[in-house]
Amino acid sequence: MTVLVERRGAYAIVTIDNPPVNAVSLAVRQGLMAAVAQTEAEKDIAAVVLSCAGRTFVAGADVKEFDKPPVAPHLPDVIAAIEAASKPWIAVIHGTALGGGLELAMGCHHRVADATARMGLPEVTLGLIPGAGGTVRLPRLVDAELALTMIAGGKPISAQKAKDAGLIDVIADGDLLQTAFDLVTRGVACRPTLAMHVRGVTNDGAFEKISSDLLRKARGQHSVAVAIDALKRALIMPEADALAEERATFLELKTSDQARALRHIFFAERASLVDPRAKLSPRPIERIGVIGGGTMGAGIASLCLMRGFAVTLIERDMTSLQAGGERVHTVLEASSKRGLLPDLDAVLARFRTATDYAALSDADLVIEAVFEDMAVKKQVFTELEKVTRPDAILATNTSYLDVNEIASCLRDPSRAIGLHFFSPAHIMKLLEIVLPESVADDVVSTAVKLSKKLGKIGVFSGVCDGFIGNRIMSAYRTEADRLLIDGADPEQVDAAMRDYGFPIGVFEMQDLAGLDIAWAMRKRRLAEGKLSQGYIRIADRLCELGRFGRKSGAGWYDYDGTKVLPSGAVATIIAEERQAMGKTAVAFSNEEVMSRILGAMHLEAQAVLAEGIARSAQDIDVVMVNGYSFPRWKGGPMFAAQDRLS
Ligand code: COA
Repeated sequence: MTVLVERRGAYAIVTIDNPPVNAVSLAVRQGLMAAVAQTEAEKDIAAVVLSCAGRTFVAGADVKEFDKPPVAPHLPDVIAAIEAASKPWIAVIHGTALGGGLELAMGCHHRVADATARMGLPEVTLGLIPGAGGTVRLPRLVDAELALTMIAGGKPISAQKAKDAGLIDVIADGDLLQTAFDLVTRGVACRPTLAMHVRGVTNDGAFEKISSDLLRKARGQHSVAVAIDALKRALIMPEADALAEERATFLELKTSDQARALRHIFFAERASLVDPRAKLSPRPIERIGVIGGGTMGAGIASLCLMRGFAVTLIERDMTSLQAGGERVHTVLEASSKRGLLPDLDAVLARFRTATDYAALSDADLVIEAVFEDMAVKKQVFTELEKVTRPDAILATNTSYLDVNEIASCLRDPSRAIGLHFFSPAHIMKLLEIVLPESVADDVVSTAVKLSKKLGKIGVFSGVCDGFIGNRIMSAYRTEADRLLIDGADPEQVDAAMRDYGFPIGVFEMQDLAGLDIAWAMRKRRLAEGKLSQGYIRIADRLCELGRFGRKSGAGWYDYDGTKVLPSGAVATIIAEERQAMGKTAVAFSNEEVMSRILGAMHLEAQAVLAEGIARSAQDIDVVMVNGYSFPRWKGGPMFAAQDRLS
């Protein structure tokens, strides 16, 4: 039974049991309708407690049903039936009450929650707005500013915040169900949320500021603006009209390109680490060693500390060690100031630094983040094999080097794996788990568990130069250079990318990251014969002039304080290189620019797939969305291409 009705004296307990997250499927809606009918019919039932089995309260409508036409009974009707019941319904919330789950709880007459419960309306993140009364009931329970943050921002709030704001009535201090029964025994009345007055805007300025911040962050994602409008309507319209408008808008958005793309990414992110090896027992990981205290190493160390691991940071000398340690402290202190680390001292107590690799004798996992040079990496791995336990996992954070070759310097190469983090490591969501041929199955399962514990979205990548992400990234960088040779300028390429939804264009990004590292790499690859002689030399010429990007005051653009200006010098270099390559400039529309950029990404992505570097097209989308700022609401390069080609 998906929905079970039991009696406890004069009360009924209605339990939704639809693993894994009690999503409101058709069966749940039917079950709830039947439960309303039954509890209304049984005259001696005084109140109904609505609870969920398993790990969470209802986590939303069943997203899997969204690609099909809706089937009655619809969630708004189920909620209306509960709200109109003649006996009080009490929602008992544990885990997360999200989307349709929170809407269901708001249709009940009272709400009791576990202290650790969270509640929110994340529909906007799926390209939708609430479709079962969320925009209409929430502003009747909390003030309009919080309603706006929740509806158009999509982030869940804690039980305490929900209690303070008026969204829930009681936080359980002990057994959750018992708390609900204590409440009904004291006597509670039916209190339909829709019958309440809108709480309204307490501060016009604050409401507008939240709206404009959310709109700015949304870039091209439509649902945010639509959600703001829906709430504004709900604040002034009669509730029945607002409900009808909300539903119509929800149904329209559900079939939109953006919502389809966001659903694609939602499921793709949850499928990326599904693998038979992930089911094997992982090796226990408590103590992690990090080699190298530069930006990347310090970021990885900070992340591991924040997520509960004991960390030893190793640097080659005291000066570098001190600098690395300070970087870790800076990251942790900033996170603590933002309220993300409740007990900074406890976190710091798990942090050690050393210059001697011997300090890693008890490490379960070591991640190296030293200079990107094969000889250096091999030296580190050889050294690590001498000092660590034979079962300790040895990981490299290299972003493009051959992990098979790094592994091959070990007597037991099955211990080696690539863990490619993205900078800043404690913020960026993506983790490429790079699998060398020799890797042991339980090392893979350990990496999967670690990825989840670190709060990352992990994707498996095979070994190649740059793995999934940097391969595709370098293909579209090259295409951007070709566009310059063919007649576009950096400003146009960047503007086209921003219009498409990237937070930043490809040239602005290079200026931000610095052009010198890629230059050094190109020189090395040219010397190794890995780069064709006929490659486009514009970036090299900028570097020869010391134009390394923002840090040197000039790069693809000129910088005057905070002002970004097109550069005449760069335009001249482009024109000279164009002439040297025998090309004549032609004009491009922004659509043509994007079509070439996306085409290049798609072509390289297909190669990555054909070579078995990525396991699936959707894994590629997950990588590009989470590691390379590809707009999520376009679904990633493979999804976008499928749309463009169909
Ligand atoms: N509809 C259908 N399936 C859902 C779902 C939903 N609303 N929410 C989660 N699931 C599925 C996931 O696809 C996953 O399935 P799988 O095991 O077959 O891959 C499973 O439930 C567990 O989800 P996962 O995200 O891996 O678990 P978690 O414990 O990390 O997080 C939630 C749980 C509920 C916080 C998270 O799944 C979530 O945010 N869900 C979406 C909520 C939402 O947006 N609701 C509004 C819908 S309009």
